Amino acid sequence: MRRTKVAELLGATVCGAEVRAAGWVRTRRDSKGGFSFLEVNDGSCLANLQVIAPDTLPNYGDEVLHLHPGASVVVEGELAQSVGSGQAVELKARAVRVLGGSPPVEYPLGKQKVNFDRLRELPHLRPRTNSFGALARVRHVLAQEIHRFFDARGFLYVHTPVITANDCEGAGEMFRVTTLDPHSPPRLPDGTVDFGQDFFGRRASLTVSGQLEGEAYACALGDIYTFGPTFRAENSNTRRHLSEFWMVEPEMAFADLDDDAALAEAFLRHLFGAVLARCGEDLGFFDRRVQPGVVARLERLAAAPFGRLTYTEAVRLLETSGRAFEYAPSWGMDLQSEHERYLAGEVFQGPVVVTDYPEAIKAFYMRRNDDGRTVAAMDVLLPEVGEIIGGSQREERLEVLLEAMRRAGLAPEAYPHYLDLRRFGSVPHAGFGLGFERLVQFCTGMNNIRDVIPYPRAPRLC
Ligand code: 4AD
Ligand code: MG
Repeated sequence: MRRTKVAELLGATVCGAEVRAAGWVRTRRDSKGGFSFLEVNDGSCLANLQVIAPDTLPNYGDEVLHLHPGASVVVEGELAQSVGSGQAVELKARAVRVLGGSPPVEYPLGKQKVNFDRLRELPHLRPRTNSFGALARVRHVLAQEIHRFFDARGFLYVHTPVITANDCEGAGEMFRVTTLDPHSPPRLPDGTVDFGQDFFGRRASLTVSGQLEGEAYACALGDIYTFGPTFRAENSNTRRHLSEFWMVEPEMAFADLDDDAALAEAFLRHLFGAVLARCGEDLGFFDRRVQPGVVARLERLAAAPFGRLTYTEAVRLLETSGRAFEYAPSWGMDLQSEHERYLAGEVFQGPVVVTDYPEAIKAFYMRRNDDGRTVAAMDVLLPEVGEIIGGSQREERLEVLLEAMRRAGLAPEAYPHYLDLRRFGSVPHAGFGLGFERLVQFCTGMNNIRDVIPYPRAPRLC
C-alpha cells in the first residue's frame, strides 16, 4: 500500500478508511489516557496530520515514547473524525514504524522558535519549517503559473545559455567562467592574460540576462519567453539583491512599449490572482506570521489597474513631494529604491509603470525616443519591493543602435549576431525581465530576498 499525502488525507470527506501516511514528527505529546499525540508533517501542505498512538502498540514504550522532533515515521491506521478542535481528521494508529530517529539535543529545529538568520545557516533543514515549506510551495505555484500564462498566449519557451560571451546589460558585472590556472595563466607578449587559450577560446561568463538570445528567437518565432537562472557579480548587500536569481524574460516581435506595458500588467495580475487562488493556506500563514495584510494587498493589486507615468513626471512628483529623501531626486539620476517605494507605496498605492527614462542611465539596446534624450524603457514598481520588472522596446534601427553602442563604450564587433537582426528583416520588438525572487518576496511579504530562494548566493555567501 502506497502512502497517502497529508494534504489529501486532510481534505478527505469520508472517514473510516485504512490509510498509510509518512512524514517527519513535529511534536509529541503524551496523554495520561494511555496514548500519545504525534504531529506529523510531510511537506504536502502547511498543516500537520494528528496521529493518535495508543500505548497498546507493541513498540510504544521502546520507540514511540522516544520520538522527538525531526524523526521520520510511517503510520498505518484508520482515518477518523477528530474530536479535538483545530483539525477535521486524525489518524488512529495501528502501527507506527520509525524510519529514522532524531536525537533531541542535536536537532536544530527542536521546540524553540528559530529565527530566519539562524535558519540561513541551515539551508538543508529549513525546508522542514512552516515558513520554508510554504515558500517552496508558493515558489512552485508561481513558476507553474508563469509557464501557464505564456503557453496560453502562444509564447514559446526558449532555453537561452547560462554560459555566454556577451554582456547583455553592458555593466561589466559578470562572473568569469574559465579553466585557466589562476596561478600561472598563459600570457600575451604585453603581459595580459591570453584568453585565446581558455576553454572557449575567448573570455566567457555566466549570463546576466537571456535577452539578446531571446531577441533572436522572437525575431523568428514571434513571441517567446525565457525562464532561467541569471548571475550578477554586483557587490550589493541588500534585502533585494542576489548574485544568482531566476529571471523571466518575454520578448515580442511586432510590438512597442505600450504592448510591453500591457503584457507586464496582465502577467502580474494573473500571477497575483493565481497565487491567491491556489496558495490560500500558505498565504494565510504569511499573513499571520510574517507580514500582516499581505493577502489583502495581493487581492487589491490583482483587481486594480496599474498606474502609469513617465520618468520625467515621476521626477517632478518626487521633487515637489516635500519629502526629505536620502538621495535628492533630479532629472538624469536613476530612481533610488526609496523613490520607487514612495511612488508605488504612497502616491499610487499599487503597481506603477514608469516609462521613458534618460538614455544615459539605461542599457544600450533600448529604443531612442524622438526627443533625443530619453529611451522607450519601462520599469514596473511595486509597493515595498520597488522595481520588479525592467524592460523596453528595443532599438531596431541599425544606425541608431551602432551609435548607442559607441556612446556606451561597447565594441560593435563583439555583438555581430545582435547587429545581424537589424540587418536582415529588422522589426519593432519589445520585452522585459521579471525578477522571480522579488515576485516571491512580494507575494509572501518576506523581508529578505535570501529567504525566498532555497540556496541563496550573495557576496560572501555560497
Ligand atoms: O532590470 P534588469 O537588469 O533588466 C534586464 O536584465 C533586461 N535584460 C531584462 C529584459 O528586458 N529582458 O533586470 C530585470 C529584473 C529587475 O527588474 C529585478 O526584478 C530583477 O531582474 N533583478 C534582480 N533580482 C534579484 N537580485 C538581483 N541582483 C537583481 N537584478 C535584477
Ligand atoms: Mg532594471
